[in-house]
Amino acid sequence: MKEQLDRNNLPKHIAVIMDGNGRWAKQKGFTDRIFGHRNALKAVKDVIEGCGELGVKYLTLYAFSTENWNRPKAEVDGLMNLLVKTIKEEVPTMHKNNVRLDTIGDTSALPDYSRRELLSAIEDTKNNTGLTVILALSYSGKWDIVNAAKKLAQQVKEGSIGLDDINESVFELSLDTKGIPNPDLMIRTGGDHRISNFMLWQLAYAELYIFEDLFWPDFRREHLHIAIGDYQARERRFGRTSEQIKKSI
Ligand code: IPE
Ligand code: IPE
Ligand code: MG
Repeated sequence: MKEQLDRNNLPKHIAVIMDGNGRWAKQKGFTDRIFGHRNALKAVKDVIEGCGELGVKYLTLYAFSTENWNRPKAEVDGLMNLLVKTIKEEVPTMHKNNVRLDTIGDTSALPDYSRRELLSAIEDTKNNTGLTVILALSYSGKWDIVNAAKKLAQQVKEGSIGLDDINESVFELSLDTKGIPNPDLMIRTGGDHRISNFMLWQLAYAELYIFEDLFWPDFRREHLHIAIGDYQARERRFGRTSEQIKKSI
């Protein structure tokens, strides 16, 4: 499958809703959902390597949503600990693979020890020039949009921009994804057909690929290749007609 992919038509940015860890654990007979989260790390490593070897430039991983704070405390604490441990362990591999780490979301909501580890890994890897991995943590699309609206309102209030200066490109510069191209492909595992408050603005024209019968801990780079292969067979029209698209290429 990998060999059949068109290297000239790769998605520049892939966003992933890594869903189904809890159901994966349950299916294996474990009552502790954390068991599923722990087993998700292999999938995370594999998708990062898979994107790196193909030459995808940006990979955003939805790791923890604003709404996930409402989960039982033991699960939230377990996820935060796992996050710190993983980031610590992975920095050397990120360097080896020329991976740069970044984050989107409300980092101020994270426990101090998690935030420190995250920010230090971002600083450590900032000069790497290969794949950029963006961890969406304490992130939601609505949070991102409201946050951008506030920043712009403040600038208008201070007089640094006028109301009429606000347009889509200016708005995008206030989103947490500033400087990152919008995702071309969004993958969701676990079979649910929804966006779950992920990058609401940024996904406007992303192609969606849902794995119906695959929970995130079982995801491997072969699945990435399947999703990209499907993406490459699609016609992205951005509101135009098929005839217009064919004429322009
Ligand atoms: C996704 O798996 C990981 C996070 C949301 C942190 P879930 O924990 O949502 O697993 P399911 O969807 O309940 O199986
Ligand atoms: C989406 O999964 C969030 C992450 C993968 C981090 P959820 O499991 O929270 O989504 P819902 O609640 O099923 O929509
Ligand atoms: Mg879920």
